[in-house]
Amino acid sequence: MSEIEIYSLDDLGYMRNSGRLARDVLLFIEPHVQPGVSTSTLNDLCHDFITQNGATSATLNYNGFPKSICTSVNHVICHGIPGEYKLRQGDIINIDVTVNLEGWHGDTSKTFLVGKCTKLAETLVRTAERALNVGITAVKPFGYFGDIGAAIQQFVDRTGFSIVRDYCGHGIGREMHSKPAVLHYDCREKGEQILPGMFFTIEPMINVGSYKSRILNDGWTAVTIDKSLSAQFEHTIAVMNDSIEILTE
Ligand code: MF3
Ligand code: CO
Ligand code: CO
Repeated sequence: MSEIEIYSLDDLGYMRNSGRLARDVLLFIEPHVQPGVSTSTLNDLCHDFITQNGATSATLNYNGFPKSICTSVNHVICHGIPGEYKLRQGDIINIDVTVNLEGWHGDTSKTFLVGKCTKLAETLVRTAERALNVGITAVKPFGYFGDIGAAIQQFVDRTGFSIVRDYCGHGIGREMHSKPAVLHYDCREKGEQILPGMFFTIEPMINVGSYKSRILNDGWTAVTIDKSLSAQFEHTIAVMNDSIEILTE
């Protein structure tokens, strides 16, 4: 028996709204991602946009996280805390937005290239985006969660890049994080069955070098142990009777 929550069509309506708003935050912030802008300025702009749209940031004060978005630059894998750092030409930055709109969550992230970047950075970012799309394509109603990581790993292995193992996608709905853990690598188990009415995220983090991560002394910032670049993309997905919907697209 599955312990993963099955939601109603009414719930799907709320999730469409929160997913659309999360997507709109990324569309809104994109033109501001430029050399010279600080990550705290990006945070403040997103915070105000979220608030003006009648929502709250789900990350602000989440287990003590101090900001309204995560900003993960270069070798930061995820959960970077916005601060005084100013973006420089050639950086890559993942902006991860989770909104709470009327009690329902939308979670999405994208890695931006800041001005002209190296070929390696461009290839990594394109690979991370494709990894997400490969994972989404593997989602089938009545398929299995294990199909997602298997498909992503089959794709990423051919690139020579690595897949972070310490962080995964997650069920989402009235909570930001719920069951199941959605693995982005092949753990060689089928996992739970994917059923209509489930909501979850897929959010692969891809590294140039080692897949291994560690957390900085701030208790949040996850970085690659070898300081190699890392990129991530994330969408929130809804499973229907015979199709799926990308709620944050
Ligand atoms: N948005 C992140 C995710 O994809 C969660 C961030 S939690 C925070 O699951 F506290 F780090 F902000
Ligand atoms: Co997420
Ligand atoms: Co997220």
